[in-house]
Amino acid sequence: MDQLLTHTGGMGQDKMFSKAWYNEYFKRAYESPTHARFCEEVYGGDLCQHGMMDVEEMEFLASLLKPGEKVLEIGCSNGRITEYLAQNSGCSILGIDYSDVAIAQARQRAQSKADRPTFQCVDLIADEIPGEGYDTIVAVDCIYFMGDYDATIKKIHAKLKPGGRMIVAAIQVKEDGEAEDILKPGHTRLAQVLKTLSLPYQQHDFTPNVRNHWVKNYDYSRSLYADFAAEGNVFLADARIAENGWFKDHAERGTLARFLYVIEYNSAVKGES
Ligand SMILES: C[S@@+](CC[C@H](N)C(=O)[O-])C[C@H]1O[C@@H](n2cnc3c(N)ncnc32)[C@H](O)[C@@H]1O
Repeated sequence: MDQLLTHTGGMGQDKMFSKAWYNEYFKRAYESPTHARFCEEVYGGDLCQHGMMDVEEMEFLASLLKPGEKVLEIGCSNGRITEYLAQNSGCSILGIDYSDVAIAQARQRAQSKADRPTFQCVDLIADEIPGEGYDTIVAVDCIYFMGDYDATIKKIHAKLKPGGRMIVAAIQVKEDGEAEDILKPGHTRLAQVLKTLSLPYQQHDFTPNVRNHWVKNYDYSRSLYADFAAEGNVFLADARIAENGWFKDHAERGTLARFLYVIEYNSAVKGES
C-alpha cells in the first residue's frame, strides 16, 4: 500500500485518502448517476462503494451476522453497506467513519429506515472507538488507513464482548522484495499479526473476486469517463484511475490476494492493557 500511496501522489488527486479527499469524494458520489452505474457494473450492485467488496462477498458477510447482534462497522463511508448488512441480517448496527460528509449522508438516509442503523463521525486513529461489548466488529477495506495493523487490531479487539469476533476484509499485495508466500493463507501481513497476538481466525478466500474487480474498475472508469465529465465529476473518474492501473497490474501478475478474516476474541490477547 505504501507504493500505491506514492503512485497516486502524482495523479492529480491531492492528498488522496485523507479526510478532506474522502469528503470531496462522497459529496460527489452521493449524487452522481454515473457513479451509481459504475458501482452496478463493477461491484454487481450500487451501494456507493469505495472498497473492493463485490456483492457475492457482501452476501457472505451478511450471512455471518445474526439477528439482534450488537455490531459496529468501522470505515462505513456513507452507510449504504451498513444499511445492507442491517436489512439482510437483522443486526443492530452502528457505523463510524471520519468523513463528516459521508456520516451526514448516512444519517439522512437512516431517518427513513425502519431498522435504523446509527452513525457517528470518528477518526479511528485519533479518537476512542465509541461503545463497548460488541458481538461483532466489521471492517471492510479500511484497515490500511489506520496505521500499524498490530495496534489497530488490539484497539478493535478491546471493544468486543468476550466471545465476540472481528470480521476484517482486506487485500494483500506482494510488492517487490516481499516473501514469496505473503499471498498465502496464514502468511499475509494481517495473518502474521493475528498469529503474534494469539488470535484464532478463519480466512475466507476472495482472491478471484478482487482480481476481477480491478479489471472491471479499470475498464469502467475509462468507458464511463465522458459521462463523469458531463456531470462535472471528472474528479470521481480520476480518483478511480489514480489507483486502478496499479491494482490491475497486480491482479494480472497474480500478486494480489483478498481474504475475509473472521477473528475470534481471546481474553489473553498479548499486549492489550
Ligand atoms: C476504501 S474506503 C471503504 C469504504 C467502505 N467500507 C466500502 O467498502 O466501500 C475507506 C473508508 O475508511 C474511512 N477512513 C479512512 N481513514 C479513517 C480513519 N482514520 N478513521 C475513520 N475512518 C477512516 C474513509 O473515510 C472511507 O470511508
